[in-house]
Amino acid sequence: MSKIKLLNIVGARPQIIKSSAISRAIRLNFSDSITELTLHTGQHYDREMSEVFFDELEIHRPDFNLGVGSAHHGRQTAAMITGIEEVLLQEKPDAVLLYGDTNSTLAGAIAAAKLHFPVIHIEAGLRSFNKTMPEEINRIMSDHSSTLLFAPTNAAFKNLINEGFRPENSPPYTIDNPKIYLTGDIMYDNSLFFAGLAERKKSPILESMSIEKNKFVLVTIHRDINTDDKNRLNAILSALKSLAEENRIPFVMPFHPRTINSLKSGLNNLFEEMKLSPWIRITPPVSYLTMILLEKNCNMIITDSGGVQKESHFFRKPCIVLRRETEWIELVANGTVKLVDANPAMIRSEFDGFMQSGNNLEYPGFYGDGKTAEFILNEILLLFERR
Ligand code: UD1
Ligand code: UDP
Repeated sequence: MSKIKLLNIVGARPQIIKSSAISRAIRLNFSDSITELTLHTGQHYDREMSEVFFDELEIHRPDFNLGVGSAHHGRQTAAMITGIEEVLLQEKPDAVLLYGDTNSTLAGAIAAAKLHFPVIHIEAGLRSFNKTMPEEINRIMSDHSSTLLFAPTNAAFKNLINEGFRPENSPPYTIDNPKIYLTGDIMYDNSLFFAGLAERKKSPILESMSIEKNKFVLVTIHRDINTDDKNRLNAILSALKSLAEENRIPFVMPFHPRTINSLKSGLNNLFEEMKLSPWIRITPPVSYLTMILLEKNCNMIITDSGGVQKESHFFRKPCIVLRRETEWIELVANGTVKLVDANPAMIRSEFDGFMQSGNNLEYPGFYGDGKTAEFILNEILLLFERR
């Protein structure tokens, strides 16, 4: 069989990191059978939201960058679809590989499905059952445009079955006869691979922020429901500032540019007070290896991120999630993730609970064996052998 050509589509920070697991597996084990091309939509473009990951994680560099930048959903997604379509027509890949649930994922799904290129969705089946989330629309549309769907958890696999996907489908697989798989999570592959490197490369972040191992709380916030609603953002950050000061424990906050923008436009007083507080350390986004170091060494994580929530589990840290619901429901059932919405009383009570019990929690292996990328690539090869 001649080599198959896969087009990776990435655009947002977590997708760039996810794609490194696939890129690495192709480089190490599939270079004889798979050629990889990468299209970056340009959804994220600041150095610390994009370039830093290509430098640090040795990811296949983008062969195409659409440079779409930031805009409202319609305009941004439309620009991506237009650019992706041109690349598809020019490159004619054998299949398109999509990650997660961003506008870049949705644009890739629509452009590829309409031109009849098989779509392969990694991180399929996740649902929050909240269609006011842009990501929920993106996930559903992408899953229903796909030929191969790789669900990272039992819950995600069951969600696909509940939406009519049939595990008993047999080859040849097509968009009308798709194949669903229960796999692990490629981000678990990454956490195993990069944890050692993060220790060896040892970012100076702990020293530069004057924080000590197991004596700080790590916070990330970027979701639109929290950043775009000033009342929610104010409630969350005021609660966190009080907890940091009362407990005299540093809270490290590598904030997404969206969060900084919201603070600057409308919550300036709070922003200034936070910057003056000796217990709050706001920083620009950090690299993935630095993030791993922070996650491994903190004593608790507070976040609204999907990826960081899972990494709390990989690195065995209790985690408070600033949302009403999560797609990673096994973590809530396990008691190591607590959903607190933007409710100051709940934030406080779960924080106090974890400060007391945080060391006695269990972290079972929910996310595979660390070789999910290899499994996925093997199955992709089979798709073409069966044709
Ligand atoms: C996007 C994804 C979200 C994912 C997140 C990961 C969608 C709908 N949302 O949200 O699912 O969790 O990425 O981080 O796709 N900005 C910059 N510099 C950048 C990128 C963004 O300043 O490099 C600012 C811009 O003001 C922009 C805002 O952040 O308007 C939001 O960026 P956008 O890509 O639209 O959504 P995210 O919140 O990053
Ligand atoms: N991350 C990072 N630097 C940061 C914040 C997050 O490298 O300053 C990584 C984090 O470790 C995880 C991924 O980005 O692997 C999560 O992305 P994000 O929170 O932006 O999006 P989500 O996972 O919610 O879609």
